[in-house]
Amino acid sequence: MTDKILVVDDDADILNFVCEILELEGYQTDRAANGAEALQLYKKDFHKIIVTDANMPQMNGEELVKSVMATGHPTEVIVMSGYADMDMAISFIRLGVVAFLPKPFDPEELINTIKKINDKFRLIEEARKKQLDSIEYERLTITATMAAGLAHEINNPLSFISGDLQLLQADFEKTLNNITCDMPFDVAKMKDKVKNRFERCRKGYQRIASIINTLRTFSGVDQEDEYAECDINKSIEDALVLLSDKQKENTVIVKNFQPNLAKVYCYSKQLNHCFFHILLNAMQAVDKDPQITIATGTIDDANIFVRILDNGSGMPTEQIRYIYNPFYTTKNVGEGTGLGMTFTRNIIEKHHGRISIRSSPNVFTEVIIRLPIKHEKKA
Ligand SMILES: Nc1ncnc2c1ncn2[C@@H]1O[C@H](COP(=O)(O)OP(=O)(O)OP(=O)(O)O)[C@@H](O)[C@H]1O
Ligand SMILES: [Mg+2]
Repeated sequence: MTDKILVVDDDADILNFVCEILELEGYQTDRAANGAEALQLYKKDFHKIIVTDANMPQMNGEELVKSVMATGHPTEVIVMSGYADMDMAISFIRLGVVAFLPKPFDPEELINTIKKINDKFRLIEEARKKQLDSIEYERLTITATMAAGLAHEINNPLSFISGDLQLLQADFEKTLNNITCDMPFDVAKMKDKVKNRFERCRKGYQRIASIINTLRTFSGVDQEDEYAECDINKSIEDALVLLSDKQKENTVIVKNFQPNLAKVYCYSKQLNHCFFHILLNAMQAVDKDPQITIATGTIDDANIFVRILDNGSGMPTEQIRYIYNPFYTTKNVGEGTGLGMTFTRNIIEKHHGRISIRSSPNVFTEVIIRLPIKHEKKA
């Protein structure tokens, strides 16, 4: 989400006037001449604050507000109108608009409303961080500690199960191959049965091993990682190589990488895991005409972005907030452990970055990551 304010009015003079007031106060603005144009800009950047006229051609204020609210993003809308009456004001407030300003309005009133909104956003963010720092952080730490212990305990017996399984299968096959005398059962059939059963055991073993692997990664036990400069484009390329066998046939990967992207100071192994998980989700989600678009670029002197867009199954807006919960998965048993995004958000936040997701069922999912080029290392 951008901190720019989106200003919408079909009257060019008012549009300029409002933008100038805001810019004088130090805000950056995006301008649109009607609701349709505004919605296009909004869907690109998801502005936190929109100041819009009510009556406009193509798409009026009411339709714009409804479309913005439907995205589920935390955006506050201020409506201005020259034809203001109480009924109109009430209907806008019912739609969730934060303030209704009859034109002509006092610029100070607009500025004060925006300040209040920003204060509210700040308080929500602080509360969210605090909550994350206390309850969620504690929960994640406990989960991570348990996961690390569990992974360690299970890993050793798992290795000898795997080794013995192989030897046992070889012994069985050798014994069956050496049977020469008549047996009270069909030896060929028995061979097949034994083979299938061993195959099932091996699949079960591989599944447990992969869960253990995810838990180890999630808990960070294996991550002796160096804090150093990292080429994010290369990080993504590496994740793609690792995932080459997970890619569905015909998947088109479009790479819009910014050349010479500023290097990011980070724990590179951990960030690699984030790209791995997001790309894996995208690869699992795509189905018909599968396409995944990956873009990297510069936001400003201090931040870069990574966007990963897929045209797969998507998800309803209400589901997005759950996907960071540990063990939340909609995948079939055996396909997902529900830790990928939990782990990813943890790492991004540890790097003082931000992750946001927008999606539409059966249309697309876009994961947007903002990363500071340099940040203070967490102790
Ligand atoms: N690109 C995507 N498209 C559609 N749904 C997604 C996408 N990415 C995540 N999800 C949803 O979020 C859920 C949680 O994702 P997450 O990566 O945390 O776990 P998972 O993929 O189910 O399991 P794993 O631990 O193996 O990654 C998924 O089960 C899926 O419902
Ligand atoms: Mg996943």
